[in-house]
Amino acid sequence: MKFSVTTKSVLDITADCIIIGLYENQTLTEQAKEIDKATDGLIRKILKRGDIKGELEETLLLHNVPNINIDRILLVGLGNKAKFSEFAFRRTLQTIVNQLKSLACKKAILTVAEIACKKRHAHWKVRQAIEFISTLEYQFDAFKSKKIPNHSLKEIIFTIYQGAEAQVKQALKEGVAITTGMALTKDLGNTPANICTPAYIAEQAKKLVRGNKQMSIKVYDERTLEKMGMGAFNSVAKGSQHPGKMIVIEYKGNRKKMQPHIIVGKGITFDTGGISLKPPGAMDEMKYDMCGAASVLGALKAVSTLNLPVYVVGVIVAAENMPSGKASKPGDVVKTLSGQTVEILNTDAEGRLVLCDALTYIEKYKPQSVIDIATLTGAILVGLGTFPSGLFANDDTIVKAIETAADKSYDRVWNMPMYDDYQPLLKSNFADFANISGGRYGGSITAACYLSRFTEKYKWAHLDIAGTAWISGDKKGATGRPVPLLTQYLIDAAESA
Ligand code: BES
Ligand code: MN
Ligand code: ZN
Repeated sequence: MKFSVTTKSVLDITADCIIIGLYENQTLTEQAKEIDKATDGLIRKILKRGDIKGELEETLLLHNVPNINIDRILLVGLGNKAKFSEFAFRRTLQTIVNQLKSLACKKAILTVAEIACKKRHAHWKVRQAIEFISTLEYQFDAFKSKKIPNHSLKEIIFTIYQGAEAQVKQALKEGVAITTGMALTKDLGNTPANICTPAYIAEQAKKLVRGNKQMSIKVYDERTLEKMGMGAFNSVAKGSQHPGKMIVIEYKGNRKKMQPHIIVGKGITFDTGGISLKPPGAMDEMKYDMCGAASVLGALKAVSTLNLPVYVVGVIVAAENMPSGKASKPGDVVKTLSGQTVEILNTDAEGRLVLCDALTYIEKYKPQSVIDIATLTGAILVGLGTFPSGLFANDDTIVKAIETAADKSYDRVWNMPMYDDYQPLLKSNFADFANISGGRYGGSITAACYLSRFTEKYKWAHLDIAGTAWISGDKKGATGRPVPLLTQYLIDAAESA
């Protein structure tokens, strides 16, 4: 998809379709007024017939409107102008995408920057629009014998008011980088676990790094990691035929000497639960248990596309959680890289086991900040549903920075408590602590508390993306989240460096 921006009048552009908003009571947007004037009041005449009232999500397609160089006008209802929210804006974009899917347009004009969305500037509106429109292009048919035909839409022109040009051009650049990163994340997430093994993730990571002078990569194999003392990681990896890997990617961003920002992704390529086997319902979705790792690669792709002047290290811990003769058993005690011992009371709490050793490994970088991204707990879905990711942190400034990036990117998070009161719940009679809490409540928090015991030496945040990384049901698929959030966080970090 080609995206461009113009300050030209809609009367001077040639296209197959223009998308124009209409508030309730049939109030026209500025650009609709322009077209109405040029067509001797045709739009108002059509509106008078009452086929569209301007309610949110209503649409009406007009063909062959005279006196303009555009074949179709797609009128889209916007509802109440004063109340038009971010939610309404995104609903509107979804409505537009659904309509565009059924049309044979190659080139369309979007006037979204003109819509009066509370608190939001053209930059935000255009970037959101690019993320939505790009979903038209995203298809995952790698394993279908009959490929899904490509969509006809090839070009989108954003019309904007004078003065917004610089911010919208920046939004175009960022939007395209973020959506290419998201596409990589989605592809990896959607690829089934018989293909997407730890070795496959390492191959994809190498592919990303290849030919990029700013990036370098090192892949550690399971035996090396065991020798290094990553006993918790090893306790998970050893149960599988597919050897585990740790993948470390550095993106220098021309800033060699600074301390890096580090993003660490959980890469369980399939989570059966291990000996604490999961029930069979929807177990196929546990191929998505590597979405944290996939988001690390997606964010690095976006960051390198934008050529951001920021030093980032991406770390992926990849393993498959299987029951087998070599698998860990409930009650096993293992020694982590930090030296602390852990009693594995449930082999299904494997994410924290692979992550904790990576979180210790990265101490040597003396990082400016660390964010781990993990499909860590089913409990976060109970607590927050599927809209925000759960945020946990040991430092207020990193919470602020992540909340700011989440707001800008609209890749939302909710800050969760991590009181000391939760810590004793991890008590073990046989090791320094256990990998699960004795109680039934606050499962996402006790998981974060477990991780916090490995992150005391730096500013750290944990994103639990179990509710946001993929969609279940008939639209089943990876979402590409939280690539927009991570990329925005690093854009902001580059600016403040
Ligand atoms: N990968 C799962 C978390 C998960 C479960 C994500 C369902 C999305 C949907 C994780 O490894 C896990 O199994 N967590 C356990 C922890 C429990 C054993 C303390 C869970 O959430 O049940
Ligand atoms: Mn699990
Ligand atoms: Zn898991």
